[in-house]
Amino acid sequence: MCGIVGYVGPNEPQNFLIEGLEKLEYRGYDSAGVAVNDNGEIKVRKAVGPIANLRKLIGDENLGGHVGIGHTRWATHGGVTVANAHPHTNMDGSLALVHNGTVENYIELKEQLQAEGVRFVSDTDTEVACMLVSKHYKELGDLKEAIDKAASEMEGTYVLVAVAADKPDMLVAHRRNAPLIAAKGKDFNMVASDFCAILKHTKDVYLIENGDTVVLTQDAITIYDEKDQQIERDLMHIGWDVDAADKGEYEHFMLKEIHEQPKGIEETLSRSLTEDNRIKLYGIEMTAEELDKYNKIVIVACGTAYHAGLAGQRVIEKVAKIPVEIDVASEFRYRDPFIDDKTLFIAVSQSGETADTLEALREAKKKGAHVISIVNVVGSSVARESDQVFYTFAGPEISVASTKAYTTQLLCFYMLALYFADIKGTITEEDYADFVEELKAIPAKIEKCFELEPFIKRLAADYYDREQVFFIGRGMDSCVAFEGSLKLKEVSYISSFAIAAGEMKHGTIALMEPRTIVIALATQDALFDKTVSNIQEVRARNAHIISVAKEGNISIEAHSNETMYIPNCRDEVSPLLSVVPLQLYAYFVAKDRKCEIDKPRNLAKSVTVE
Ligand code: G6P
Repeated sequence: MCGIVGYVGPNEPQNFLIEGLEKLEYRGYDSAGVAVNDNGEIKVRKAVGPIANLRKLIGDENLGGHVGIGHTRWATHGGVTVANAHPHTNMDGSLALVHNGTVENYIELKEQLQAEGVRFVSDTDTEVACMLVSKHYKELGDLKEAIDKAASEMEGTYVLVAVAADKPDMLVAHRRNAPLIAAKGKDFNMVASDFCAILKHTKDVYLIENGDTVVLTQDAITIYDEKDQQIERDLMHIGWDVDAADKGEYEHFMLKEIHEQPKGIEETLSRSLTEDNRIKLYGIEMTAEELDKYNKIVIVACGTAYHAGLAGQRVIEKVAKIPVEIDVASEFRYRDPFIDDKTLFIAVSQSGETADTLEALREAKKKGAHVISIVNVVGSSVARESDQVFYTFAGPEISVASTKAYTTQLLCFYMLALYFADIKGTITEEDYADFVEELKAIPAKIEKCFELEPFIKRLAADYYDREQVFFIGRGMDSCVAFEGSLKLKEVSYISSFAIAAGEMKHGTIALMEPRTIVIALATQDALFDKTVSNIQEVRARNAHIISVAKEGNISIEAHSNETMYIPNCRDEVSPLLSVVPLQLYAYFVAKDRKCEIDKPRNLAKSVTVE
């Protein structure tokens, strides 16, 4: 979604801003712009479409100055136009502002400002924020105080960053519930909505907290908390390398990230595994007494993270014998769920910034739940607002379609289940040891799944033009079916659907036609025969079957047109393997359909609006 970058320093900001915006492209956007304060003149350049259009617009022009702000906009209030793109300026062009999030009471504020004679040129809530800051700046003469006053009148979740023509050496930012970091360079300072935008220049950052206002000059980053007290925050050093956010030898981030899964699993597992093969969770500690307090677990997430939760629900219930509910975050809050201090709430999020997940977490906390989160981005809002954080170590995930974050989230659920089962004594020593060995073997088994790549390329070449694909499975396979289907629709725009295999006959089977592809997951030994019956039902209606089974289960071939085998494993952990051919299938189909794989249309990596 929207991205922000700002620079103050000895150099001209132009390249810092544009390169920073390019690093934020993966979040999804449809227009971009920059504003540079060139010694008292604010120069704004904005373009619709990719950053390349903005680069073209600027051409060889040198915008000069030492302070600037940039923005990628994912349209919410008003269409994708140059007028609606950020930065927005006040009427005389003496103040420019970028904004992430939403100002909920913008109509009311706009009417008040209009009554005072302000004329608007866009449909956005951001322009309202800009005019409000401008009004207070004219009254108060202090940019920080003006932003604080405007923020106190605005409702919603947002980050604002402003520059004023008469302050050629300063920018001011304010955070309310949307991500913001301030980065400290050798002789410059930056702000950004995401680490990726600053990683090339520095790895030292302050995480700006809710309600904070931060004033940046070339020499100083001064942070004020919500009580307007100047405050020292810890300087955090980011461990990632700038290469982690580069494609390297791969054509797309999605393929690179699929191939990074063994490493992601290894990294995540190694932090929570002791030398004597016990699971000791990184970031989470619970005594038997504490765990006993909870009468249920509630998992809440969106998209792919939700699909990881579906598998998590099954494995925790089966292994640790704790009742688990799961919901999509956008529904959770509005059904008035039964949550109290006996609830253990688990939020799952790659970015840690998904607005729906964050709001669900806040609701659960308000009702007294203990909140654990499974998060990839260190220091993100979900991480910071949770009682305990169980980090995935997937590394930066740039492709909008999530792959390596999903498998590390799954792994976290297996580890949580084992940890809880160990505390509660619901697992035997032999079974525990066997499960841990299975997890340790996963990276090598995923590598083995990559051997399917040439076969999957051929499948994609044969079937890329089929417009209807169904994913079916039972048990853990049904969870993977949902993720496989989401991957395919996200990157290839094919109408794909997932359904529990046994449910197919209760309606959906009416859609079967000779050109329909059914991808049937049959990796659960305990459910194999039943799944085969369901495959036969759809095959009898002329659907074309591509099945995924464990190696050795060759009887499946009699019921399938094509079969892909994954290495043998316990039924519970098969999602960690069976999802890999589905990710690759989605990738190669999208490639054959010439889709924009890493940044699919209409999607955003980090959805920071509800
Ligand atoms: C967006 C993305 C999905 C992602 C979901 C949850 O919708 O397009 O790919 O799964 O958000 O994101 P999170 O960062 O919370 O895991």
